[in-house]
Amino acid sequence: MEIQNTIKEIHEKKFNQKAVCIWFTGLSGAGKSTLAVALQEKLIEQGFITQYLDGDLLRNTLNNNLGFSDEDRLENIRRVAEVTKLFLDAGVICINAFISPTNQIRNLAKGIIGEENFIEIYLNTSLETCEIRDPKGLYAKVRNGEIKNFTGVDAVFEKPHKSNLILDTGKIQIERAVENILSFILPQIRVQH
Ligand code: ADX
Repeated sequence: MEIQNTIKEIHEKKFNQKAVCIWFTGLSGAGKSTLAVALQEKLIEQGFITQYLDGDLLRNTLNNNLGFSDEDRLENIRRVAEVTKLFLDAGVICINAFISPTNQIRNLAKGIIGEENFIEIYLNTSLETCEIRDPKGLYAKVRNGEIKNFTGVDAVFEKPHKSNLILDTGKIQIERAVENILSFILPQIRVQH
């Protein structure tokens, strides 16, 4: 739609940015939300206009009728990807933190958002590390049998085939990880019009 293209162009020009989606994938507890929020702070400091979307937030609102079956996870990510596309169409950089556990699911997101706009960051932090951290106490509930179909335990997490960046937050500090991400994405998002 022509008017929408104009809005995208106006905002991208105003903020000297290219609107892309920075998509974090990885297990629960891998540090997706922590890194996404830290990254957003850095980008805001540098004058970029951004939005942050994550699983816990969206599953309490837009996607509050979805669970964790394969079909529901696919539908969760389909909706998230469509929302992301709306932000990109408005010229806004979108930082997303979703487990997005399978190649099918990540490909669906990539297809909707557009491969050229999709920067995939895989946090390959081990299950052991995530389980020790257990920031929401969910792994304890999984081991007690209170939660079923939990990613990495009794539901699949497929390693991504070709992520743009892979980081293990069990091995590097948050600050260092954010620096790595920034130096990788800045050349791709900073545009002088
Ligand atoms: S996804 O698989 O559909 O991409 P999403 O990122 O939206 O998942 O939501 C994951 C969050 O839901 C986790 O961080 C965790 O807090 C919560 N959660 C609750 N039950 C599960 C489960 N069975 N598997 C994974 N995450 C779960």
